[in-house]
Amino acid sequence: MKDFIALLPKVELHLHIEGTLEPELMFALAKRNNIDIPFRTYEEVSAAYDFHNLQSFLDIYYQGANVLVNEQDFYDLTWAYLLRCKADNVLHTEIFFDPQTHTARGIAFDTVVNGIYRALVQGKQELGITSQLIMCFLRHLDEDDAFVMLNHALAHQDKIIGVGLDSAELGNPVEKFERVFQQARKHGFKSVAHAGEEGPASNISDALTVLQVDRVDHGVRCTEDKALLAQLIAQGTPLTVCPLSNTKLKVFEHMADHNIVKLLRQGVCVTINSDDPAYFGGYMTDNFNAVADVHPMEKAEIAQFTINAINASFISAQEKQRLL
Ligand code: HPA
Ligand code: ZN
Repeated sequence: MKDFIALLPKVELHLHIEGTLEPELMFALAKRNNIDIPFRTYEEVSAAYDFHNLQSFLDIYYQGANVLVNEQDFYDLTWAYLLRCKADNVLHTEIFFDPQTHTARGIAFDTVVNGIYRALVQGKQELGITSQLIMCFLRHLDEDDAFVMLNHALAHQDKIIGVGLDSAELGNPVEKFERVFQQARKHGFKSVAHAGEEGPASNISDALTVLQVDRVDHGVRCTEDKALLAQLIAQGTPLTVCPLSNTKLKVFEHMADHNIVKLLRQGVCVTINSDDPAYFGGYMTDNFNAVADVHPMEKAEIAQFTINAINASFISAQEKQRLL
């Protein structure tokens, strides 16, 4: 099955580009930009990446992003991720970026987008990997700041397909972002939101009704509400599930407890994704293997994750046909 998974074409729909910052590049960029980081060795990094919940990860993840300063840094980060995609046979990827993590440090929005986008264009030309960009609002920040980001995004609408919502789910309900999502949709952006990762099933319902999202990121706590689960199945709402992230952040204690295969068999449009692979210990193939190792599946079931991801992606019907 390992060979089957390695060779399986894959589509990634839940990936934070800042979460692909490997320690090696973090060290190199810290040196290049003269930025202080709290780690000197790989041992110190791996000791620090011992998370017990989402917030304990976010604290480290935002700190790591401090080394990203110039357009070239965002390019280098994205190019390194695309090479990992190539190795894992990822044909198409829809990438999140968190502009507020950077603008809050005085980095220009254009620096972030242009660096990422330059790598994506090269990735299509040289690696044959197609991609889309999704701008996430940080949900611990306020509505005004989200609107500032939306205005920046409008100037880059040729490069950005949609908006998302990430950061701390608990204590940050979606209502604050109803108007900015409504405005984004009016301008033709697609929309997604993290929900039901650490928060209850009602957060998933709220993302669907208040924000009217096209996909739910994580969404694994949907099983706590039978009516919601039935609705997700009936409406084919995609969930972008991240198995290694979920065990690293203790959403599930063990991979054997994870509900993704059960959801697949119930007919939910679940997909496998890597979230923040540099922090959670694996890219796409690693995530597929981690699930398959403890949840035996037929090949057709494993392939269904890719079929679901193609159907759930923000590409044209023609592009979907090409991938299917
Ligand atoms: N959840 C919320 N915010 C995030 C995540 C996540 O899994 N990864 C990066 N930002
Ligand atoms: Zn995420």
